[in-house]
Amino acid sequence: MGDRLVSPNVSEEEQIIEGSLRPHRLSEYIGQEKIKDNLSILLEAARRRNEPVDHVLLYGPPGLGKTTLCNIIATEMGVNLRTTSGPAIEHAGDLASILTSLQPGEVLFIDEIHRLARPVEERLYSAMEDFAIDVMIGKGPSARSLRLSLPPFTVVGATTRVGSLTAPLRDRFGAIYRMEYYNIDALRQIVARSAHILKVPSQEDGIEEIAGRARGTPRIVNRLLKRVRDYAQVRADGVITREVAQAALQAMEVDEIGLDQTDRHMLLTIIQKFNGGPVGLDTLAASTSEDTETIEDVYEPYLLQLGFIARTPRGRIAMRSAYEHLGIIPPGEEGGPTLWTTT
Ligand SMILES: Nc1ncnc2c1ncn2[C@@H]1O[C@H](COP(=O)(O)OP(=O)(O)OP(=O)(O)O)[C@@H](O)[C@H]1O
Ligand SMILES: [Mg+2]
Repeated sequence: MGDRLVSPNVSEEEQIIEGSLRPHRLSEYIGQEKIKDNLSILLEAARRRNEPVDHVLLYGPPGLGKTTLCNIIATEMGVNLRTTSGPAIEHAGDLASILTSLQPGEVLFIDEIHRLARPVEERLYSAMEDFAIDVMIGKGPSARSLRLSLPPFTVVGATTRVGSLTAPLRDRFGAIYRMEYYNIDALRQIVARSAHILKVPSQEDGIEEIAGRARGTPRIVNRLLKRVRDYAQVRADGVITREVAQAALQAMEVDEIGLDQTDRHMLLTIIQKFNGGPVGLDTLAASTSEDTETIEDVYEPYLLQLGFIARTPRGRIAMRSAYEHLGIIPPGEEGGPTLWTTT
């Protein structure tokens, strides 16, 4: 899983390189036009009022640019960014010490905010709403609660699972942005920009080929670019042409629409083992040896987006387009399996 070429998750080594490819200003941020429009108004209004930006929640599949956008918010506001994550804040006291050390206007980035422990989350409510926290002083009968006021600040929360957020936490964000998969045009621009930064010679149709196989995801497009560059240097003259990109990606078993073996295995499992579904998430996890969370966060979103699978109350089903992509005749059609009831 860690080595999967089209995984939207980031490896440690990759994190360092990602830094160099990360856009720093909103104007350099490619795609996500709706978010950019709304965000630029939010930022401009806050600047004019000389106030910190309202709390922002960013959600969507991994690798689409949530962390990047959070960095941009801090940069555009000319303030410091403090970064933490849901699982990193173990106790309410840890949160209190982060909050009391914030400078006015600073941005506190809480990645994986859906994984905050409940007592920590509850402590965050008053901090976000009133810029104040209650801390307990002393122990036993003499213990009393003291309200500390905080400088105004901005929480930017990021999550891949907005459904796991509690309503009270969600309600404390003034702006909630849903990140979308990038279209080909945006991905092409991202590859071209990265190729320029990394000084990789490339032709337009080579870039297009990479963009088309990146599952709508900037992190993946950058990763494919690097692997294709290696291939071009070893097997060709270093220039990324369409032929080179195609050969490289084929060698890596990433197909024309960015599916790899794991995706194909998952689709085939639904289609062949379970007759097209519906198959429950747990069952699917067991028969593909992936955990349910990985399937939900990593594989499924893109397959859903493609319309290859659908979620029903009784489980996942394979759609006609999945059969077509895999070259399998859908059930009920001439030459297809007969064991099938339409739903
Ligand atoms: N709009 C964009 N324009 C150009 N490059 C982008 C854009 N969005 C993301 N990237 C690139 O994609 C990489 C991954 O983005 P980022 O780390 O922000 O994703 P993420 O949504 O935070 O992922 P995760 O959910 O795993 O934390 C970054 O290194 C950045 O270079
Ligand atoms: Mg991130």
